[in-house]
Amino acid sequence: MGEEGILLLITIEGIDGSGKSTLVSALRESLKDLDPVFTREPGSTWVGDVVRRAIAERVDPVTEALLFVADHAAHLEAVVRPALDGERMVISDRYTDSRYAYQGVMLEERIPDPLGWLRALHNGWTVVPDRTFLLFIPVDEAIKRLPGDKRREHFEDGPFLEKVQGNYLSLAEAEPARFVLVDALLPADEIHRFVERGIRELARQPRSRRRR
Ligand code: TYD
Repeated sequence: MGEEGILLLITIEGIDGSGKSTLVSALRESLKDLDPVFTREPGSTWVGDVVRRAIAERVDPVTEALLFVADHAAHLEAVVRPALDGERMVISDRYTDSRYAYQGVMLEERIPDPLGWLRALHNGWTVVPDRTFLLFIPVDEAIKRLPGDKRREHFEDGPFLEKVQGNYLSLAEAEPARFVLVDALLPADEIHRFVERGIRELARQPRSRRRR
């Protein structure tokens, strides 16, 4: 493969209620010319159904973390690698940073170094994104934006999301070249234009200059 072209893995991250879904549907429309593969975690393969059941039944955090990692492995093999191998751009709504941020909190009481444990689980086989857009929003505002039924899910209580967002920010601070912080309080169309511009700029860069 040459040094030019679109081979790119882009991820969109943020706490529940940060506006990811709105952004992703707008990108779906506006990036059609680049022909990206839109995908998501959890749930892009049947393994995701198991993960959703585990969330609903509130299994213990270690089981839950391992299921999310299994979902990631299946997602990589079924969707991400084939798309990248076919020279397609991939845009994933949530990816490994969701595990680092969410399971990092869920595992706090169970494992001495949750982030280290989670990183070790992914090392050697995962694909690191080229760029990650992190939607940042005050937690009370995010909760206000959630539909009623979502607000009741166990992932979505305030103190928990504060910690998740804290983890996201630490991840972004540790890898400033990969993360782009997006102010999720901006109007949806401004967020969309900003992220779309970022993706197009990245797609124009020679591959050798991108982070891999
Ligand atoms: P998702 O279906 O993306 O929720 P939403 O439609 O509300 O964005 O994800 C379900 C929940 O799973 C969400 O609260 C984030 C959480 N999650 C993790 O805890 N770990 C992970 O690795 C992933 C991918 C998601």
